Amino acid sequence: MNKITLTTLNNMKQSGEKFTCLTAYDASFAIAQENAGIEVILIGDSLGMVIKGQFSTLSVSMDDMIYHSANVSRVCQKSLIMADLPFAADITKEEAYRNSARLISEGGAHIVKIEGGATMLETVQFLAQRGIAVCSHLGLLPQSVYKVGGYRIQGRTEEEAEKILDDAIALEAAGTDLLLLECVPTALATRITKNISIPVIGIGAGATCDAQVLVSYDILGLTHGKPARFVKNFLTDTLSIQDAFKEYVKQVKEGHFPSNEHTFD
Ligand code: KIV
Repeated sequence: MNKITLTTLNNMKQSGEKFTCLTAYDASFAIAQENAGIEVILIGDSLGMVIKGQFSTLSVSMDDMIYHSANVSRVCQKSLIMADLPFAADITKEEAYRNSARLISEGGAHIVKIEGGATMLETVQFLAQRGIAVCSHLGLLPQSVYKVGGYRIQGRTEEEAEKILDDAIALEAAGTDLLLLECVPTALATRITKNISIPVIGIGAGATCDAQVLVSYDILGLTHGKPARFVKNFLTDTLSIQDAFKEYVKQVKEGHFPSNEHTFD
């Protein structure tokens, strides 16, 4: 069994093969996802909503992240394990380093995900220079939900789009290894994916990204309230959770998901 590494994902981008990412917060989901062929398992701070029942990710602590990351990483042998730095865990670059080190040494993560663009450049560079793999998160930043006035599409104006593209290019230069783009128009995601050499993972960012991510509970129809436009329930036409995960992998790899109904112009 070959372990998925950043080299694997870079090679997939080069060869044009799509890869998949799903969130998991416990051992049983992690095993099912790894067996379905999910390349990257994300312990997302979306656990604030789907596990803790909150409106946002903002209550998630480092201890929450470490507890759930360790439950996932303990049983995974192949998938790349990515964990979120939660709200305010990256106030300074030194804090970000200390907390990333905890996610890696106590939580078993291989790569940490950090929200933000230009303001996080120094932090990303600090971590990269010290050997920590980083995924940068741009577009809709759930940790800024109160500042941006809700969970809504970003990058629709030319000015916003240029800013996100510039941030992506600058983050790559600072040493980030992966980029996650949330809720941006497909045309912008396409420009970014073509203009940077690191793999781009999209959620609500169209089919041209190198990979897709969704919250696992959403793809099983377990969304509280109305699902976001980019969500698809893969359990509807399958017989089990395991088959739903496999169907998600198949549809992403074959380019059937996301289709236009799941994306933004
Ligand atoms: O926390 C999370 O689950 C995420 C995804 C929505 C990408 O960041």
